[in-house]
Amino acid sequence: MSVLVTGGAGYIGSHMTHALLDRGDDVVVIDNLATGVRALVAERAIFVHGNAGDADLVGKVLKEHKVNAVIHFAGSVVVPDSVSDPLAYYGNNTQTSRNLIDACIKAGVDRFVFSSTAAVYGMPEVMPVVEASPTVPINPYGRSKLMTEWMLEDAARAHDFRYVALRYFNVAGADPKGRTGQSTPRATHLIKRACQAALGRVEALDIFGTDYPTKDGTGVRDYIHVSDLANAHVHALDHLEMGGEALTLNCGYGHGFSVREVVDTVSRVVGARVPTREVPRRAGDPAAVVADPTRLKQLFQWQPKHDNLDEIVKSAFAWERRLNSP
Ligand code: UD1
Repeated sequence: MSVLVTGGAGYIGSHMTHALLDRGDDVVVIDNLATGVRALVAERAIFVHGNAGDADLVGKVLKEHKVNAVIHFAGSVVVPDSVSDPLAYYGNNTQTSRNLIDACIKAGVDRFVFSSTAAVYGMPEVMPVVEASPTVPINPYGRSKLMTEWMLEDAARAHDFRYVALRYFNVAGADPKGRTGQSTPRATHLIKRACQAALGRVEALDIFGTDYPTKDGTGVRDYIHVSDLANAHVHALDHLEMGGEALTLNCGYGHGFSVREVVDTVSRVVGARVPTREVPRRAGDPAAVVADPTRLKQLFQWQPKHDNLDEIVKSAFAWERRLNSP
């Protein structure tokens, strides 16, 4: 199969590219390198430097490489940035997706996998979160992604076009073969920051809030290994190839770890203290967000292979150690 991966030079997209090549697919990556890293794109993939929202360029790429399916990762993911510059997020995420979907429909590419997020649920009241939970995002990032889900739903109703939208919980870890990892400069994710603190590359890890109604007062999240997440996309492609219907699915393991548990795990696994500093809650952070992944497991027979926080941390740390910049 020939697959176009938008954002293939980014964290999750670069893992996806390897997963597809590993199983024998042909891959074309399109990435504008705004946050992506050219060196992370697998050598065997064809690389196109450009914008996934450039409908003319995408149209040409789809035709020239006889693309059968698109996996769309390109976009912006920093929640506080989305609050300070919302229109950039509606541009990079929503508008880019609109143009890309349009280009696919015009080119007759009818299979589309979309990188959505647990942020569409906002502050979920019932845990674990099922797909039917209310979607009430609390920031422009979540809204920009939810709007794309709506466009997909409408486009699938109107055209010969099917999609799977995967709502990611907290993605972490790195390729077990060490080929790629989270390389975004100024990353804000907990596990990456904790690894940087253990390496002495940041002074201390800020613990955002110790007064949440959780087991130890710190925020609880469902951390999923990036390779298991990439594998869920492979299942989504197979589902669409077999003529499967449009779906929206949670991607998580179904259990949560607190910030303190993550910090303790990083210290133990890497054998170094993680210096911490307790600070007030970060604005807009829910207390706990844990997925109910039942539908993903049942519909795709998806079996996670790395559902183990020690393993997630080990791979993230191994990658972090190889990077020079904080
Ligand atoms: C958020 C989004 C998620 C998005 C991700 C990408 C929501 C609900 N989730 O995840 O959809 O894909 O950002 O950027 O909007 N923490 C610390 N210290 C740190 C960093 C984090 O204590 O230095 C805590 C946070 O308060 C939180 C947990 O660690 O409780 C995880 O935070 P983080 O890794 O930033 O991800 P989310 O905010 O959960």
